[in-house]
Amino acid sequence: MNDYIPWQAEIVDIDIESPNTYLISLKPLEDVDFSYKPGQFVMVSVFGLGECPISITSSPTREALQLCVRRAGRITSGIMDSRVGDVLGIRGPCGNGFPLERMKRDILIAGGGSGFATLRSLINYIVDRRSDFGEVAVAYGARTTRDLYFMQEYKSWQQSGVEVGITVDIGDESWKGNVGLVTSLMDKFRLPPGSAAICGPPVMINAVASKLMERGFDHSEIYVSMERHMKCGVGKCEHCNIGPYHTCQDGPVFSYDKVKSVL
Ligand SMILES: Cc1cc2nc3c(=O)[nH]c(=O)nc-3n(C[C@H](O)[C@H](O)[C@H](O)COP(=O)(O)OP(=O)(O)OC[C@H]3O[C@@H](n4cnc5c(N)ncnc54)[C@H](O)[C@@H]3O)c2cc1C
Ligand code: FES
Repeated sequence: MNDYIPWQAEIVDIDIESPNTYLISLKPLEDVDFSYKPGQFVMVSVFGLGECPISITSSPTREALQLCVRRAGRITSGIMDSRVGDVLGIRGPCGNGFPLERMKRDILIAGGGSGFATLRSLINYIVDRRSDFGEVAVAYGARTTRDLYFMQEYKSWQQSGVEVGITVDIGDESWKGNVGLVTSLMDKFRLPPGSAAICGPPVMINAVASKLMERGFDHSEIYVSMERHMKCGVGKCEHCNIGPYHTCQDGPVFSYDKVKSVL
């Protein structure tokens, strides 16, 4: 597979996760050797518009390749305005993904906003390989109930022994759950220090990581998925640098000790 040439994938299903976020299932139209890890991303092209990085939200333990796309500008709108049967270009998988072997222990997964799309891949991977991991807790926060993703999956995660806490910044009359920051959920979990995966806005990453370190987590065992502006996705253009690292190749997953100074 050539890193620079997109292969074609057909959109086979589109689910609406929130008013401005769609879950898109793809089927490769070419015979590509596509294997990936939770935490990796692909460069998605809309022919005639350009390409942008999108995390793989499906788990490699399941069949479909899925992307969860939030409308931001021209290219994400081009992806979301596509229909079932339309064809997108895909390069990748790109980036490093989560270090799964090191994470096979008790694990806390914390997501804020659209960053939760990346973590869904990891959660479903763990659910499908449950005996490889210890205690697992998921803390997820969104702005409002309308912004919560993957609601139809929380029950199956719980049935697999994953503790799931959900919170929103602003509740409404139908919402009986927690209102507040993701960190407000973490006091409810009695998870011993282990590994952690975080994806969300920098302020949320720092707040969750600080709380975990107070509880004895080591900063090198807290893994953070970082978003940076990207162009090439393969370490050539220097658009995505964080200090000495190319986020597209050395990341997007970094241990917290490596990136905390830029968060
Ligand atoms: C590793 C990685 C994984 C990503 N995963 C997803 C995903 O799963 N789903 C998803 O919907 N989006 C994801 N994004 C963000 C997505 O790539 C951007 O929203 C997209 O490039 C915007 O392009 P556009 O042409 O639609 O909008 P533009 O018109 O280019 O930009 C619209 C707005 O988004 C901002 N923006 C653009 N790119 C980024 C970026 N990389 N990080 C932060 N802000 C940005 C711009 O500054 C501008 O304010 C990811 C980005 C990275 C780097
Ligand atoms: S996006 Fe070009 S070097 Fe990372």
